[in-house]
Amino acid sequence: MKLRHLLAIEGMRREEIEALFSAAARLRQAGPTAKPLAGQTVANLFFEPSTRTRASFELAAQALGAQVLNWSAQGSSTTKGETLLDTVRNIVAMGPKVVVIRHPLSGAAAFVAEHVQCAVVNAGDGQHEHPSQGLLDGFTLHNRLGALSGKRIAIVGDIRHSRVARSNLHCLTALGAEVVLCGPPPLLPAGLAACGARVICDMDQAIEGADAVMMLRIQKERQAQGLLPKPEEYRRRWGMTQARAAKLKETALVMHPGPINRGLELDGEVADGPRSLVLEQVRNGLVMRQAILEACA
Ligand code: CP
Repeated sequence: MKLRHLLAIEGMRREEIEALFSAAARLRQAGPTAKPLAGQTVANLFFEPSTRTRASFELAAQALGAQVLNWSAQGSSTTKGETLLDTVRNIVAMGPKVVVIRHPLSGAAAFVAEHVQCAVVNAGDGQHEHPSQGLLDGFTLHNRLGALSGKRIAIVGDIRHSRVARSNLHCLTALGAEVVLCGPPPLLPAGLAACGARVICDMDQAIEGADAVMMLRIQKERQAQGLLPKPEEYRRRWGMTQARAAKLKETALVMHPGPINRGLELDGEVADGPRSLVLEQVRNGLVMRQAILEACA
């Protein structure tokens, strides 16, 4: 499996996704048996904060033999007005094999890819996609549920602004899963039904019979914009409360990409309970990101 870049899951073929799952499974089983990035540099460029994505790309790159250049906007010359393109061109002049980039603008990773020779991995661009998250989530579900064809996966929360939702939607539908999108009507773009998802506002209806429910982080600034009900109302209608989790199918799994607003979209007891895959997602992120970097090497 070779990747020129990883910019989005939309447009990826099922075989490409499954090849990355196989590579991640091999890496989890045997560890990296070669160092395909020995003597190379992976540059992590984060124009937005991150805990999981940045740390796991760093560890994944090191596991493959690379040295890692960690750059974040805070404390950089971005604060003096240096442009995205100038920043990236200067970092690329230092010779990285792969640039991993997170940026608040949708399309930023694709823009960068058009202007550099090295591989570019999108670590989250605005409201567009977060492909490594979608792949690690799909891998986690595949490990737990087997083939995802016909499995029912509900994604609940701020669908409109979520790059995680978009990447998961493309990943899961490519694998034949039945995806249900659920959230407050202003945050539920009907256009996504064209991607093969069902769109349901009522959470109890959306999660009925689900094999897994993926909860999304509520971006609190949406409350200030009047797009969301008050927190208590949100939790009652679209939160994975303990009471709601108890009504799920016995084998149903609960996911969240992190960071979690405990007691808002997801009760702490559910996040830490037996259905939760939250930390398994993080563990799988390490090997999925190794698989992605290996494919870009
Ligand atoms: N899931 C995710 O992208 O988490 P971080 O923002 O901490 O990287």
